Amino acid sequence: MKAPIRVAVTGAAGNIGYSLLWRLASGSCFGPDQPMILQLLEITPVMDRLAGVVMELTDSAFPLVNDIVATDDANVAFRDADAIFLVGSRPRSKDMDRADLVAANGPIFVGQGRAIGESASRSVKVITVGNPCNTNCLIARANAKGLDGSCFSAMTRLDQNRAVGQVAAKLGVPPAQVQDVFVWGNHSDKMYPDLRLAKVSNLPALGQLDSAWIEGEFRTTVATRGKAIIQARGASSAASAASAAVDHMADWWRGTGERVVSMAIPSQGWYDVPEGLVFSFPVRVDAEGRISVVEGLEIDQATRDRILANVSDLQTEREAVAELL
Ligand code: NAD
Ligand code: LMR
Repeated sequence: MKAPIRVAVTGAAGNIGYSLLWRLASGSCFGPDQPMILQLLEITPVMDRLAGVVMELTDSAFPLVNDIVATDDANVAFRDADAIFLVGSRPRSKDMDRADLVAANGPIFVGQGRAIGESASRSVKVITVGNPCNTNCLIARANAKGLDGSCFSAMTRLDQNRAVGQVAAKLGVPPAQVQDVFVWGNHSDKMYPDLRLAKVSNLPALGQLDSAWIEGEFRTTVATRGKAIIQARGASSAASAASAAVDHMADWWRGTGERVVSMAIPSQGWYDVPEGLVFSFPVRVDAEGRISVVEGLEIDQATRDRILANVSDLQTEREAVAELL
């Protein structure tokens, strides 16, 4: 049996947490032979609710869960953590954009970033889910002294999965037949789901889909799906978000092979995206967990304009949190 890894989840008593923890504990993310210690963080007023979640996890008797730590101290939650899911933060309501959350949620990622820098494993893999996730990741990274930028990421996998779901439904194929769809930019309405590399049943997707549908209904549906779910469900997406977080971390932990996936990571200037902005790129991950951006893709004017719109969106968010960086 492998040695247990330490997996931290913040906002563990929230809606995403309630779905995510069971997927992690069952082995869906880190593999069926990887034991773990779950380190769960909540705010003090919610510790009773977290105790209930811990009771249910205990009652699920997962063979891979060696121990569960429940705490309101970020340094305890992140101690020696190998993987961290930064979920804990407020979701938006119907009339808000995700960027409107930055004033409420941004400060959370200052203290948690510091605690990650002080306490986590030096090779920790951090996924930021709490919105606005690209900029919250930027804040956490800026405050995590002594950790490399390659430890940090934000989640655009839900947008990728939504794009795959739309293409699969349109062509009447199972999602497994849809490969190499990815998303550029920010987890905001400006995001750009790109089908130029995509294959459906091993043939180029572009040859099988009407360009008016791609430019119209497809892009709009993917970019505004979060709000549509809030309107329909009366609550932010939760199970699909947890599932996407598992997909993102599983690919980071175990590698993608030749598959192309979306991860928002601190830019090193790829595709002229300013250094440091946490931007979603097409990436592959090798068996050692190293993420590499797929470089050399042709950038036509329409793609350039969309990338620039996302850069501008993220620069505006960055200016709004300048004092937190
Ligand atoms: P929720 O309100 O159900 O749960 C959030 C939990 O976080 C609560 O239990 C709360 O007590 C806890 N929390 C708040 N501040 C905390 C802190 N400082 N430390 C630890 N825990 C803290 O919300 P949810 O539905 O689970 O959503 C969580 C976040 O994820 C929201 O910001 C939401 O917008 C975001 N989200 C992102 C994506 C994405 O694709 N990136 C998708 C869905 C939701
Ligand atoms: C989503 O995309 O579903 C989440 O980011 C929640 C939201 O506010 O849209």
